[in-house]
Amino acid sequence: MTHNIFKKLAIQTCRQTFKHEKRHLSKINTHDERIQQEFTTSAKLFSDAMSKRATRLLSPLLKACDVSQLKNPKPTIVDVACGPGLTTIGVSKLNKYGKTIGLDITNEMLRVARNNAEKEQQALGNGEKLHIEFRTGNVEHLPFEPDSVDMVVSRLAFHHFVSPKKVMSEIFRVLKRTGTAVIMDIVTANDDKAKYSHYKTSSKECTRLYELCNAIEKLRDPSHHGFLWESDMLHLFESTGFERVETTDKFEDARTVRQWIEQTGSYDQRRGVEVLLRELLEHKVDTGMQLHLNDQHELMFVHRYVVWRAHKP
Ligand SMILES: C[S@@+](CC[C@H](N)C(=O)[O-])C[C@H]1O[C@@H](n2cnc3c(N)ncnc32)[C@H](O)[C@@H]1O
Repeated sequence: MTHNIFKKLAIQTCRQTFKHEKRHLSKINTHDERIQQEFTTSAKLFSDAMSKRATRLLSPLLKACDVSQLKNPKPTIVDVACGPGLTTIGVSKLNKYGKTIGLDITNEMLRVARNNAEKEQQALGNGEKLHIEFRTGNVEHLPFEPDSVDMVVSRLAFHHFVSPKKVMSEIFRVLKRTGTAVIMDIVTANDDKAKYSHYKTSSKECTRLYELCNAIEKLRDPSHHGFLWESDMLHLFESTGFERVETTDKFEDARTVRQWIEQTGSYDQRRGVEVLLRELLEHKVDTGMQLHLNDQHELMFVHRYVVWRAHKP
């Protein structure tokens, strides 16, 4: 009972702080502008943080990219919402004979991406040439002809999209028949089919947990829009017309709350998120984030990641 009351209070606090943050960000009119503002500030920090965690956070997506299975020996692969291009570069190394294109709405991210690709090319020397290109664009209107792309990949981006349905339709539109989509994202904690069906029907507990983790994420990064449940993504693929929809990997990854906030480049303004999470841990509120202290008494949390793969019939 006390537990539930505290959880309600925590959600209210999140909402109030978010309202405050909204006023603070009042000059920003649209979600796209918020995305660009956040990722312009955090581009380099995000790139550095992700480079350090590549083995853990990139390999599972690359493993799902069955480039050799594609019909076209010189495939076109598009990385949507490519950010600093680490996924694009990883995929382009698998796509030796075709072209890999990274697309993003934030120009600063694309600047970092081009730098990263250049450094990677230098490291490879003359022996291997990366066929890679970066373009500015919005995932809601992919700048590609229908049936023109062999594979679409996307990592850690769907939770930022206002309309995942629209983006999925765009991916379907540009893919060739038999083309592959590989998507990896963070999902709502403790997701499984049983929880999902409760969440859709009656369980207030699940809805509250969902609201709480989204509210916390929005406090840390106002460009967050909403986590999908693992099963939401499976439904989204299927309802868009994809076939052979599968989850190829799921795993958890722990890190400090401080690093997570610092990665936004706005730690001073957002340190309150760490204070709030420490309170929630102290009061044993289930945030779904598996909050705990490490040996150095730093506050840690866990994110849950899923990789999905599907094919256009
Ligand atoms: C968390 S970053 C992930 C970057 C990259 N996929 C990776 O995993 O390293 C999210 C990226 O999505 C981009 N993004 C968000 N909404 C977008 C949209 N509507 N169109 C294009 N890019 C978008 C942001 O600019 C940002 O670079």
